[in-house]
Parts: sequence; C-alpha cells; structure tokens
Amino acid sequence: PLVEFLNFEVLEDHGWALEDEELFAKAADANLQSTDFGRFYVDPNDTLLEAAEKNGFAWPFACRGGACTNCAVAVVEGEMPSPASHILPPELTEKGIRLSCIAAPVSDDAKIVYNLKHLPEVSELLL
Ligand code: FES
Repeated sequence: PLVEFLNFEVLEDHGWALEDEELFAKAADANLQSTDFGRFYVDPNDTLLEAAEKNGFAWPFACRGGACTNCAVAVVEGEMPSPASHILPPELTEKGIRLSCIAAPVSDDAKIVYNLKHLPEVSELLL
C-alpha cells in the first residue's frame, strides 16, 4: 500500500479539521516539511509504524503492542484493520482511529494522519 501521511500537529497549527474533505489537498498546497507531509510504501507484513520507521520517520510510540495509544493514527481514506486486542474504545475505532504499531493499511492507497496522541479523545487514554 502507498500511504500519504500528515502530522496532526499541522492540523492544530493551521486550524484544520480531521473531518475536512479537502484536508490532504490543503496540506499539499501548504509547503509543509517532509516529516509532516509526504508518502511512503508499506511492505507486506510490516506494521504502519515499522514502515514509517523504515522510511526514516520518527512517529510516536511507546509499547508497540496495542496497549498505550501513543502510536494512534486516523485513517482519512483507505482501509486499515483494527485487530481485536487493543486499548482503543469502539467510539474511536468507529471514527477511523487505529494503532499504527499493530496494523497497516490493506487498501492500495491510504491517507493517514499520524500523531493522533494530541487529539483530546486519544490523549486522555494515554498510558
Ligand atoms: Fe502503544 Fe501502539 S505503541 S499502542
């Protein structure tokens, strides 16, 4: 899968909403740093977090086992499974929030906002 990613902190800086359908188009026009906005391929069997790291990006994590939410991302477009054993409550998985340490997109293309640990609903779960 080809992942296009955006740093959640950029949304906060610009006052952009996660639900904004133009979000990635706005990001493409905003002259952002390559660590905040870009794309990479995820190799088969890699988690999204591993793929980010292989491509030289330092995305947040702590437990690497689905137990802390530090690695949370929002799937804005595409499909990414949500394995059964993890800490995220259904209200968040229903909104497309996933843990990058235990899963990866399964669709050919995906748009992912990473650094979701700064989203209030996620940060209150942080361990
Ligand atoms: Fe802890 Fe992913 S790093 S849930």
